[in-house]
Amino acid sequence: MMQPYRKIVIQRLTGEIRSSIGIVEAPWRDPGPGQIVIRNRYAGVNGIFDQNLCRNTVRYVDVAPPFDMGVEAIGEVVALGERVDGIRIGDAVATVKLGCAYRDYQVVDVGKAIRVREASPEILALIASGVSAMVALERIADMKSGETVAVSAAAGGLGQFVMQLAKRAGNHVIALTGSDHKAALLRELGADRVVNYRSESLRAVLANEYPRGLDIAYDSVGGEIFDAFLDHLAMYGRLIVSGHTSDFDKPVEDVPHPRAYHKLYWKSASIRAFQNPAFPQYFDDAARRILDLYYRGELRALIDPTPFDGLEAAADAVEYQLAGRNAGKVVLKL
Ligand SMILES: NC(=O)c1ccc[n+]([C@@H]2O[C@H](COP(=O)([O-])OP(=O)(O)OC[C@H]3O[C@@H](n4cnc5c(N)ncnc54)[C@H](OP(=O)(O)O)[C@@H]3O)[C@@H](O)[C@H]2O)c1
Repeated sequence: MMQPYRKIVIQRLTGEIRSSIGIVEAPWRDPGPGQIVIRNRYAGVNGIFDQNLCRNTVRYVDVAPPFDMGVEAIGEVVALGERVDGIRIGDAVATVKLGCAYRDYQVVDVGKAIRVREASPEILALIASGVSAMVALERIADMKSGETVAVSAAAGGLGQFVMQLAKRAGNHVIALTGSDHKAALLRELGADRVVNYRSESLRAVLANEYPRGLDIAYDSVGGEIFDAFLDHLAMYGRLIVSGHTSDFDKPVEDVPHPRAYHKLYWKSASIRAFQNPAFPQYFDDAARRILDLYYRGELRALIDPTPFDGLEAAADAVEYQLAGRNAGKVVLKL
């Protein structure tokens, strides 16, 4: 029997994380049959998702406080229930499960744990964001090679993998960011054309340098970037909606545009949305392949260097990411 441990819960729905959450004690629970206990070492920070939970606006969850937070975690197995095969105490494992990450320990069905070589922030980023990027590109965007692919928030937790995987597949990659520092990182990661949308007009770049249009436009920012992508799709172009960071917490804006079919029909182009919980069937295979690429040195995992230590730093980490200051994946050290 072990001591109680700490976890973050949403205590009230104020609409923003800092005033919604609290750290509480959770009683130690022994693992049941087929379950393991994991000592979490790092949690992945998904600022928009967390903030949406505190607004109760995640469509597939009804948040009734007290509500356990955090989705992505990596750590070591510290206890085994009965009938657990193939995993031993001390093994490093990662999990992607709502309510299991912003806490020091979690009890989880062994089938939900992915065994990994080490409990590092890089492996966590690959299992969480890297897998999403791979599934979205392969299954939703129908990624091929020799195409022109534009990626927004390309230096972010998710975008870094979208841009690297698109490049690796033999595509020309246009990477968008809002800072010169991140622009330099994107060049290092192999982007063919970096656009800092604060100092250059995205529309002008696309019109002047890419008159044939975009085969894949991978967008998680929304707003004007989405509009520019939609107006510059190539024949058979696919615009992927993978988030809308720029206005997720704002009232839905009515924009005076021609109806979307005028922009899509003559090009046989499409707008396709991706939400990772909708495609669990592809995750195990993608996790295996993404780790393989990483260990072969064909993929890098950028972790934002700003340290966020302990559950107390969760709100700081979320606010940092929501301010768009991160380069790479934001992680919380536990
Ligand atoms: N569809 C899915 O299944 C799925 C899975 C994971 C994440 N997501 C979504 O994908 C997006 C990226 O998630 P992430 O965790 O990897 O975040 P992230 O990209 O690491 O961070 C957000 C980035 O968005 C950019 N940005 C552009 N406009 C912004 C604005 N107005 N305010 C703040 N940031 C702005 C910033 O980068 P620049 O300065 O470089 O533009 C910022 O660093 C989010 O919308 C998230 O909800 C979707």
